[in-house]
Formats: sequence, structure tokens, C-alpha cells
Amino acid sequence: MRKEVILETRGLWAGYGGKPVLQGVDLSVREGQIVAVIGRNGVGKSTLMKTLIGLRPSDQGSISFEGSLIDRLSGHRRARLGIGYVPQGRDVFPRMSVYENLLVGQSIGASQKPAGQIDEIYGYFPILKERRDQRAGTLSGGQQQQLAIGRVLMGKPSLILLDEPSEGIQPNIVQDIARIMVELNRATGITIVFVEQNLDMIRSMAQRCYVMEKGRITAEIDTATLEDRDAVRQFLAV
Ligand SMILES: Nc1ncnc2c1ncn2[C@@H]1O[C@H](COP(=O)(O)OP(=O)(O)OP(=O)(O)O)[C@@H](O)[C@H]1O
Ligand SMILES: [Mg+2]
Repeated sequence: MRKEVILETRGLWAGYGGKPVLQGVDLSVREGQIVAVIGRNGVGKSTLMKTLIGLRPSDQGSISFEGSLIDRLSGHRRARLGIGYVPQGRDVFPRMSVYENLLVGQSIGASQKPAGQIDEIYGYFPILKERRDQRAGTLSGGQQQQLAIGRVLMGKPSLILLDEPSEGIQPNIVQDIARIMVELNRATGITIVFVEQNLDMIRSMAQRCYVMEKGRITAEIDTATLEDRDAVRQFLAV
């Protein structure tokens, strides 16, 4: 049975101070899929993520989530509906402990579901258990990324948006995070949309890719084509 569409945009426009960045983005993601958005620096990938979660207003077009239009809802309401967002650069609360960061995530997530249990997060990310009392600002980049993901998972989202999870992280940790995300997707059915420039992470996680150029989706890459490294690499930063 084909799964339902969970996230869809039609002709989405957004920008900054009258300067358009997104210029008619169309995308469609089904429940349980893992989809990458790739593209060179500055094409609007982060702007797309911010517009989806509601940190930036859209100027035209629509965003629907689980069949309902959400583009006029606040970011807070979208999070409550079950959309989790991990920004580029992670943004953990540096002076709070790992444990306290996770507790914050519990309070801002999807309201209709029982909040995630910290032990479940520790199960996926054992390093967070080891470091539970450590201040988040003193963790390595890879540990902070795991914490940022764990914090969002505490809210039990059905869709998670990840903006460049591999950025500034050692290759072996990138592979660990990719593996954990695939495990999570298999175990819970969570839908994952992630922006990425790291070819290894894209190939180990994505079932398909959208290519973004100048604020538009200009191509789609399916699983078979993902095998062809050069086909993917041409759309990434050099
Ligand atoms: N807060 C802002 N104010 C004004 N312009 C912005 C702002 N944030 C981004 N832009 C501009 O919008 C365009 C798209 O930026 P965005 O961050 O979405 O790109 P990106 O694809 O995520 O790039 P990167 O790969 O470097 O993260 C760029 O030209 C950028 O300079
Ligand atoms: Mg970006």
C-alpha cells in the first residue's frame, strides 16, 4: 500500500526583505520516507527548512502537512502538530546540561502524543547518557548534533527536518549519525527530510533526493541514481 503524502509544498515563495530566495518550490514527501534536499551554497536550502517550520513567512504558495494547510500557523503550532526541526549549526543551549536540553525538547513537541522518554533517546545515542550532566556547550560538534536531534525527538515528531547534520563533524561520527537515523526511521516510521552536502551521508540515508538550484527544485534523484557518485556530486558544493 502506498503511504499518504505527509508534507507537500506548491509554488512556495519566501525571502528576506523583499529579496526572493525560494521561487516556487514544489515538493512532496510520503510518510516514512527519508528524503534529502541537496544543492550548492546559497541556493536556499536553509530558507526552505525555515519556511517549512515557520521561522520565515512564505510570500506565496502553500505548505501542507498531513493533508492540512499549515503555512499560516506559527512555528510553535507546527511543532505541536508533529514537525521537528534541527537548525544548521544545531543551537543547543550551551549552558544547560545534556539532560536539561532533552527536557526542553519534551515540552515543545507534538502535544497529542506522550512525550518521548529520555531513556529511549539514550538508547539511540548512548554518548548522551554518558555525558548527561555535562554542559552542552562543552560537547564536540558531533555530540551536539546528536543532542540537537535527541532534543527534537523528545517531542515525538512524525516529521523531522534536519539542516546539514554533518556540518563540521568528523567522518566516522557522520556515519554513526546516518546509521542511527536510518534505524530510527525503520523502528518508528518517522519521516526525515534533510539538507545535506556530504555525499556519504546522502548515500547512506536518502531514499531519494531533491536538487535545489536558485530557489527551485530542478531535479529529483532516485535510489538507483544515488549509486552514481558523480551524478550526485555535480549538485553539491565543490
Ligand atoms: N537572514 C537573512 N537575511 C538576508 N538574506 C539572507 C538571510 N539568510 C540567508 N539569506 C540569503 O538567502 C540566500 C539563501 O540562503 P540559505 O541560507 O537559504 O542558503 P543555503 O542553501 O542553506 O546555503 P548553505 O549551503 O551555505 O547553508 C543567500 O543568498 C543568503 O545570503
Ligand atoms: Mg544552509
